[in-house]
Amino acid sequence: MRKNIVAGNWKMNKNLQEGQDLVKELQSAVFGKALKCEVIVCTPFIHLATVGGVIDKNKVKLGAQNCADKVSGAYTGEVSAEMVASTGAQYVILGHSERRAYYGETNAILNEKVKLALANNLTPIFCIGEVLAEREAGKQNAVVKKQIEEALFDLSADDFAKIVLAYEPVWAIGTGKTATSAQAQEIHAFIRQTVAAKYGKTVADSTSILYGGSCNAGNAKELFANPDVDGGLIGGAALKVDTFMPIVEAF
Ligand code: 13P
Repeated sequence: MRKNIVAGNWKMNKNLQEGQDLVKELQSAVFGKALKCEVIVCTPFIHLATVGGVIDKNKVKLGAQNCADKVSGAYTGEVSAEMVASTGAQYVILGHSERRAYYGETNAILNEKVKLALANNLTPIFCIGEVLAEREAGKQNAVVKKQIEEALFDLSADDFAKIVLAYEPVWAIGTGKTATSAQAQEIHAFIRQTVAAKYGKTVADSTSILYGGSCNAGNAKELFANPDVDGGLIGGAALKVDTFMPIVEAF
């Protein structure tokens, strides 16, 4: 069956020293606890190798927040999937709405990134989600379906089965406005049906679908109690152990 996952997306926060301190503190907090979910920290690129050196990967897994859509070469400022994997990272967030909105990442570009991540044995945490105007127009299902179809549906079933999905309604990210538990369950079930229609029930039932967007200690339990919500992708609340641990322990 599918895994429960709570992943922290640090975004562009924490210098190297602060990042190391946070991860050490997190590691102590999870030590000796029988957690019912996998815990992942997705740090800025620059932290990966150092943080990878201080964490016990049996307890806390490591991920990046992006990777290049090219293998290697003259792409100044880019970081390849192979480089990410060489730090010991096992995951990479791809398709975050901030990357789509501020850095022009299209489904076609994301398709290249996903394939390179998989080729380097990284597990993509692939983000999808609608903006407020799309939700208000009742188009959220069509939006997430198109994102999945265009970026992922040329993968083989074996490759698709390696992917984690994260539904993040853009209107809920960093706004303090969370999707209700019923809204999350409804669209997560739709996403799972969409995957089942393409790859079959076995693949769909084994795909972890995380919720992201103002998830916190107060709402995580109710969100995660839904049958199709398999954990969370956490932004702001992942920046402190005191706010992240209650979410990890919500399972
Ligand atoms: P917040 O938890 O800060 O709303 O961010 C969610 C997110 O974008 C995680 O990727």
